[in-house]
Amino acid sequence: MKTIIEPFRIKSVEPIFVTTPEERKAILEQAFYNPFLVNAEHVLIDLLTDSGTSAMSSHQWAGIMQGDESYAGSRSFFHFESVVKSITGMPFIIPTHQGRASEKILFSILGGKGKFFVSNTLFDTTRANIEFSGATGIDLLCEEGKHPAIPAPFKGNLDTVALEQFIKEKGAETIPAVILTITNNSGGGQPVSMQNIKEVKAICAANQIPFYIDACRFAENAYFIKLREDGYQNSSIEDIAKEMFSYADGATMSAKKDAFANIGGFLALHSEALAKECRNLLIITEGFPTYGGLAGRDLEAIAIGLREVMEESYLQYRIRSIEYLSDKLHAAGVPVMRPAGGHAIYIDSKAFLPHIPVAQYPGQALVCELYLAGGIRSVEIGSLMFGKYDEAGELIPAAMELVRLAIPRRVYTQSHIDYVSEVVIDVFQRRDLIKGLEITEEAPLLRHFTAKLKPL
Ligand code: F0G
Repeated sequence: MKTIIEPFRIKSVEPIFVTTPEERKAILEQAFYNPFLVNAEHVLIDLLTDSGTSAMSSHQWAGIMQGDESYAGSRSFFHFESVVKSITGMPFIIPTHQGRASEKILFSILGGKGKFFVSNTLFDTTRANIEFSGATGIDLLCEEGKHPAIPAPFKGNLDTVALEQFIKEKGAETIPAVILTITNNSGGGQPVSMQNIKEVKAICAANQIPFYIDACRFAENAYFIKLREDGYQNSSIEDIAKEMFSYADGATMSAKKDAFANIGGFLALHSEALAKECRNLLIITEGFPTYGGLAGRDLEAIAIGLREVMEESYLQYRIRSIEYLSDKLHAAGVPVMRPAGGHAIYIDSKAFLPHIPVAQYPGQALVCELYLAGGIRSVEIGSLMFGKYDEAGELIPAAMELVRLAIPRRVYTQSHIDYVSEVVIDVFQRRDLIKGLEITEEAPLLRHFTAKLKPL
């Protein structure tokens, strides 16, 4: 059979809320043209994020009931720890309430002024935690990754030539870690090849620089390796995941993505000394080392989710359903990143809205229009998220102006996705009428979450 079906059936449903275009116009105005400030009940299809929005399985819900809520040494912790140890091969596993808590702990220890963290592309919270420590985040994405329309199998790879040059220039002692984000969320959800992981590891080892993985979407990355990289077609996802982690000194993870959990994360480490330091910080910020900011039931849900996410029938459906939407939009001429990434569709808003200058935030203009037209919530990954100002107060734009339609795991059906494609194509056909925006209020860090804007 040609059709790849959802490898599950639906046992419990929740309503979604329909609004009229007139209502949405008023709602968006009240939310200052920032959909982060729109109430969820005013959103029809919520593609803001794939984080914490997964549908949990009946097994996970059963695990929730069985969660052991003991303060110390809970059974659920040991279940969680054994699964994470087995996948990562790392002996020290520290639970946190979400990915950024792991980042905060790790970079508070490794970071500081005059230090550089090099990555394929740092996610926004990772960069913010690095910068908050006084260090600098450096993105060295491979050339293919910088061209949304040009297909390549591993557009998330780190540019290893640039990495070697950077190490020579700054000195290995200034670089506490190289971090590979797999898949590369801010660069289009694109995968990193095993070859690239190995090369990065070899460069790090030669220079005695620790190598970390930001593992939020490790299973999606492993599936792409299986599909696209020679020598992995007959490997299981679990074996590929284990190999990826085998090269790393440590990993940070948000369990809100590839663990189907609504909350949670962890730090996995090889170094006992570093784990000790991290646990000391954990206790004052998150909690005791066997729960670290989570309830026992959350640890159960994560342990079960981590096993489910590596099921091949699930990953086949997951990756195909993203590609399905990408193909529909591409066929209608919508400039989407090709090939499709693992968890989201990325629209190139510079190509979609060439008449809107970057300083007028074309990505955010498109995000607003998708909400107005169809009640779809998406997110700008461009100069609103990553832009900075120079000394003269002029915008230093981001490398790309993308709009992300992130698809929650196991949540929406094919007709929801067909509806999304109709809305995007409708907006594309009248794109000339869309206008840019200006910022009226913004925070110094992670401004996109709370920024207020108005149309020009
Ligand atoms: N790293 C990556 C690659 C991420 O995508 C995220 C979160 C984090 C770290 C932080 O994890 O949210 O649990 O603290 N990404 C979400 C998103 C928010 O919408 O892409 P967190």
